[in-house]
Amino acid sequence: EPPKLVVAKAPAEPEEVDDGRKKVTIFFGTQTGTAEGFAKALAEEAKARYQQAKFKVVDLDDYAADDEEYEEKMKKETLAFFFLATYGDGEPTDNAARFYKWFTEEKDRGDWLKNLQYGVFGLGNRQYEHFNKIAIVVDKIFAEQGGQRLVPVGLGDDDQCIEDDFTAWRELVWPELDKLLRNEDDASVTTPYTAAVLEYRVVFYDQVDDSILDKSSANGHANGHAVYDAQHPCRVNVAVKKELHTPASDRSCTHLEFDISGTGLAYETGDHVGVYCENLIETVEEAERLLNLPPQTYFSLHSDKEDGTPLGGSSLSPPFPPCTLRTALTRYADLLNAPKKSALIALAAYASDPNEADRLRHLASPAGKDEYAQYVVAGQRSLLEVMAEFPSAKPPLGVFFAAVAPRLQPRFYSISSSPKIAPSRIHVTCALVYEKTPTGRIHKGVCSTWMKNAVPSEESLDCSSAPIFVRTSNFRLPADPKVPIIMIGPGTGLAPFRGFLQERLALKESGAELGPAILFFGCRNSKMDFIYQDELNNFVKAGVISELVLAFSREGPTKEYVQHKMAQKASEVWNMISEGGYVYVCGDAKGMARDVHRTLHTIVQEQGSLDSSKAESMVKNLQMSGRYLRDVW
Ligand code: 2AM
Repeated sequence: EPPKLVVAKAPAEPEEVDDGRKKVTIFFGTQTGTAEGFAKALAEEAKARYQQAKFKVVDLDDYAADDEEYEEKMKKETLAFFFLATYGDGEPTDNAARFYKWFTEEKDRGDWLKNLQYGVFGLGNRQYEHFNKIAIVVDKIFAEQGGQRLVPVGLGDDDQCIEDDFTAWRELVWPELDKLLRNEDDASVTTPYTAAVLEYRVVFYDQVDDSILDKSSANGHANGHAVYDAQHPCRVNVAVKKELHTPASDRSCTHLEFDISGTGLAYETGDHVGVYCENLIETVEEAERLLNLPPQTYFSLHSDKEDGTPLGGSSLSPPFPPCTLRTALTRYADLLNAPKKSALIALAAYASDPNEADRLRHLASPAGKDEYAQYVVAGQRSLLEVMAEFPSAKPPLGVFFAAVAPRLQPRFYSISSSPKIAPSRIHVTCALVYEKTPTGRIHKGVCSTWMKNAVPSEESLDCSSAPIFVRTSNFRLPADPKVPIIMIGPGTGLAPFRGFLQERLALKESGAELGPAILFFGCRNSKMDFIYQDELNNFVKAGVISELVLAFSREGPTKEYVQHKMAQKASEVWNMISEGGYVYVCGDAKGMARDVHRTLHTIVQEQGSLDSSKAESMVKNLQMSGRYLRDVW
């Protein structure tokens, strides 16, 4: 199973002894590991620079069990750095959620952080509305509560090159730490620090029967775990698979049902499911060819030395269980994203052709910034594509999995069913990612392609399975089913509303009285990508939807979008809101959700005869009181 430890972790850290060295805590809130990687990189370089200080990298979730402990421990911190990513609709990462809630909810603590000197680096994407919201908010509150800000909050932008943003921010940190931590013995401060290429220790085994192997690891040793989460997913079978577009469509959208019966895995309407998918065999074979290693190579990775002492770097993520190279590349390696600069440096270290090594180093260097932006980012080159263009770079496995290929991350989907109707199934509605990149490569989205190719158990005993886990959300129906609801979900944004509607159907069948519900759905063409059309019509017939409003963007002479339809229904929308109704938006954050937000603002302003700022604060209030909820990506 994905990120499970196979080797014994370093023994639990002994209770801290006060040896007079200054303590520096580096916190991270990470989703895909980038923030964690930066935190560790900062710690490692700092350790090399300042012998007289102790650096500790801490997962915000592991830091404290509850609010009280957060407060108690945070009060004692004197020098700390925070790496905080912002996700979706301006949300913290899962592992920073408790910290963020605690930290932002209670504001009247006075200047209780007056002993704290701190720095915050944010990870976000400028394409999104709430760019680096989490980092900005936390940085501000620290200052308000007495903390002393050492460096301006770093605004990492994943739309450009976030590694560069981190490097630039780090250069602001050193002069400050020099003032606080530099000791006469610290000669290294002046010599430029170059991080060593990370590497696992690798143990190779004699030929092992691959079929046995794959069975043992597929049989879900993680199942039966008390709580399933990203580190302990639950392997489940695909029970049903259906194509939702008609043959007339040139795109594809898959309806998939995971069978969770007997696993103990549970979910609620509106939750998300995280799915660990697998790379396509063609992708894996290409990687095997590029690494020049046979697929049946059986090996294990270790982050300690043979005698059990930890390897130098702390930036290694936990290794995965022993397996064949075929399995490792299939399940654990992210092969199709753009390579990071650190990956290029690692490749350079193993390029036998000096020209290739130079070029790789140049691309990763500050001087090669524009070329990296051009060649890697704008060219949308995948790791494999880059490796193919630098054929002499053949990193050994321990380096490949530590420094070149990041771990394949789970993908999150809004669950499109309700446990009230489908208690033993988790439904997913997934649009296929299939696009031509500037270099002419066809990019096939890893998880959507896996889902499209999945073999359901209703068709074959030899069906597909995947490790999954549920992530709770706050995207919930009002507790009282009589409260009016407005749902806006074009395309696969419909997913959670299908769950809502199933839940309302179950409520109605059990005798509950339902309030009005309007659903705005949009797609390109009613004959191609009108997903779940029959079901939606049945929900209307059953009185579960009181009004279904459709926007088809590529049927008539002009584009019709959900927000245009909302504007046409302005007085209805306004009436429902005035009666205490809830507004839900699901789908694309960058375009649709932004435009819908503007339209909502306009409706409130015009229908309520308010000026723009009053309308603004009314929409804010809706948001704050949990009556305007967004599930956007
Ligand atoms: P388009 O592809 O024709 O532009 C589901 O993807 C639907 O959402 C499609 O009909 C798509 O239209 C539409 N869509 C694209 N951008 C949008 C936006 N900014 N606001 C609302 N709908 C949008």
